[in-house]
Amino acid sequence: MIKFSAPGKVYLFGEHAVVYGEPALACAIDERVFVTVEERSDNVIKVFSNDLFFKDVTVELINDETRLIPGERTLKPLEYVFESIKEIKSIEKDIPGFEMNIESQLPYGGGLGSSAAVTVASIKSLSELLGLELTKDEIAETAYRVEKKVQKRASPCDTFTSTMGGLTWVETGEELEKKGSLEIPVVIGFTGQPGPTGVLVEQVSRLKESFPEIIEPVITSIGKITKQGLQSVNKNDYDAVGRLMNVNHGLLDSLGVGTQKLNEIVYIAREAGASGAKITGAGGGGCILAIGNNSQKIKSSIKSNGYEAFETKITRTGVREE
Ligand code: MEV
Repeated sequence: MIKFSAPGKVYLFGEHAVVYGEPALACAIDERVFVTVEERSDNVIKVFSNDLFFKDVTVELINDETRLIPGERTLKPLEYVFESIKEIKSIEKDIPGFEMNIESQLPYGGGLGSSAAVTVASIKSLSELLGLELTKDEIAETAYRVEKKVQKRASPCDTFTSTMGGLTWVETGEELEKKGSLEIPVVIGFTGQPGPTGVLVEQVSRLKESFPEIIEPVITSIGKITKQGLQSVNKNDYDAVGRLMNVNHGLLDSLGVGTQKLNEIVYIAREAGASGAKITGAGGGGCILAIGNNSQKIKSSIKSNGYEAFETKITRTGVREE
């Protein structure tokens, strides 16, 4: 039996502005997707999951024909698994049947990179099953190809961060770069609804077209926050990191990607003593990220107001054997 896990991710700074060439800083969080594979004696591929992804559903893949048991349902997360299998088949045509089990600690659709983590962990487990010895760069590249095929638009940031772990510096036209880590407890608060990334990116673009002289400086300011934020992270100055997160949140809200729920959770986290709290990801739903040493109190305050929340930490470890 082979078992690998891959982490989810959050944006510490820079989402949306990154679409316009500003840098962003993403971090791997220690909430993982676990993929177990075991060879079968026939050529049937079975994929199981008993958690959020596809509860109580077994999928059989025989000669690329899928059969869902029970019944037919649209299972978006499975597309990442099937595309990963296809990518592996394009490297090694003759693959044996296997059983794959997927477990996730990440809420699906929360903007925390769950699809990238599923993809990275699936590719790594299958490549190990077949003795393919893919490098981490190859895993990240293959996983990015899968995300591009399944989604219309994808950024290599999620799959890179999930593969490598730690902090990822994202800049258009530059290679993604791994940059240290962040040693402070983190709390994620979830609105319970996914944020429609494509729609929000489009909305920001329209706002920028309508008011370029106002919106362009907002985007440039977010880029400056990201650069300053990295310096503060490198100095372990979490008070400054938190204050910069708060400014970044205000600017994201001014771009129109905040919602009542996101703002409510951000303010609950700050009231509970977070040194910084902001939207993470596209907004419009999805999650907020808060940092602070009193993470237990931040988490319980968010939960007592009826939202999902969990404590986690930034992990230096990307895809790993379990
Ligand atoms: C979404 O997770 C992050 C955005 O910046 C979009 C992107 O970079 O593709 C909003």
